[in-house]
Order: sequence, then C-alpha cells, then structure tokens
Amino acid sequence: MSHEKIETNVGWMAILIAIAVSFGGLAEIIPLMYQAEAVQPLPGVKPYGPLELAGRDVYVREGCYNCHSQMVRTLRHETERYGHYSLAGESVYDRPFQWGSKRTGPDLARVGGRYSDDWHRVHLTNPRDVVPVSNMPAYPWLAETAVDPAAVAANMRALKRLGDPYTDEEIEGAAAAVSGKSEMDALIAFLQGLGKHAPKG
Ligand code: HEC
Repeated sequence: MSHEKIETNVGWMAILIAIAVSFGGLAEIIPLMYQAEAVQPLPGVKPYGPLELAGRDVYVREGCYNCHSQMVRTLRHETERYGHYSLAGESVYDRPFQWGSKRTGPDLARVGGRYSDDWHRVHLTNPRDVVPVSNMPAYPWLAETAVDPAAVAANMRALKRLGDPYTDEEIEGAAAAVSGKSEMDALIAFLQGLGKHAPKG
C-alpha cells in the first residue's frame, strides 16, 4: 500500500496509527512489569497501616490530587525544593498511585515530618490561619467525621487479595487501630508518612 493511499484514507490511517502506538506502548510498558526496581518496594516501604490507609482514602475522596502531585521530578529546581526525586519503589503499595501532574499547591511526596500534626490540623481546618494567601479549600468537617473501622478492614482484605502482604492479625487489628479516630486524624497520619522512606540527599 503506498504512503499516499494511507494518508488519504482516514480508516486505514486510524487503524495503522493505533497499531503503531500500541507497539510503542507495549515496548515501554512490558519491560517495566519485570524490572525489579519498578515493582519491588524500597527498603522499609510497607503497605499502609490502617490509619494511614483510611487517610489515603480521604485524600482520594476529597480530590486533593486535583491540586497536589506526589512526585518529585529529576530536575534540580525540584530536588532542591522538595528533596530526593521520587522512585518507583516508594509507591508500589499505592493503588491507585497519586503521582499526578497538577500543582496548584506544592508537591506532597516529601511533606511527611515537615510540619507538626497540630500545624496540619489548623491548616486543614482553615488554610488561611497559617498561610494567609492560601487558596486551598478548608476541610473542617473531617475532624467531626469518624473513620469507619469496617471499611478499613475490608479495604485491607481487598488489597491483600491484590498481593499486598498484610497478615491476618493486621487485618483483625485494623478496627481497633482506627476506633475513635476522625478522618482528619487519618489524613494527617497519611500526610506524615509521605516520603518517610525516600532516599536521603
Ligand atoms: C484548590 C487547590 C487545592 C486543593 C483541592 C487542596 N490543596 Fe493543599 N494546598 C493548595 C495550595 C495553593 C497550597 C499552598 C498554600 C498553603 O500552604 O495553604 C497548599 C498546601 C498544602 C499543604 C502544605 C504543603 C507544604 O509543603 O507547605 C498540605 C500538606 C496540603 N496542601 C494538603 C492538602 C490536602 C490533604 C488536601 C485535600 C484534603 C488539599 N491539600 C487540597 C491547594 C490545594
């Protein structure tokens, strides 16, 4: 088939583009599935504990990813601001990952330990109280909403089925670990764990 024929026939063009793009995609994606550094957790990286897992769900539900990425890129101005660039082995237990690309606010991949729990509590209740120019929404209701213990255990069971190495004891203890905690407590626990196992430097 001559080149001209393909270029003037939109049907063939679409089919051949789809084939070319799929091969290109497969050539990039399939090797990653077998590369140890992309599928093995970094030393110390474990599946989220019950409270952090509940907090992660709040993070996703509230759409924090619409304004915050969780991926430090390999660019000097990023590593100087946030710390070591992100590695795949840090997020093997993130389903779905929260890398993102939208940054209305700063990247959060290394925010764990940067502020106290109290700072986060004030900031989430009303960001303007600590950062007067902030345009981040306030999330005061999170402090009044309790974490659902049954949902956390069910979530851990589902993740275990997908291959996360939770033990039965951990799943049984999940309800007790989150009892009496608010969604704000959970979200703060999640934020404080971000970047905990990042390489130094
Ligand atoms: C409309 C965009 C927007 C949304 C949605 C949003 N944020 Fe933010 N966030 C910002 C901006 C802008 C800043 C920088 C100003 C400030 O610190 O408040 C920020 C700052 C932060 C910081 C401090 C980061 C640092 O390094 O100083 C944290 C932590 C944070 N946000 C967490 C969250 C969480 C958790 C959620 C979801 C519950 C969320 N944000 C939702 C815009 C947003």
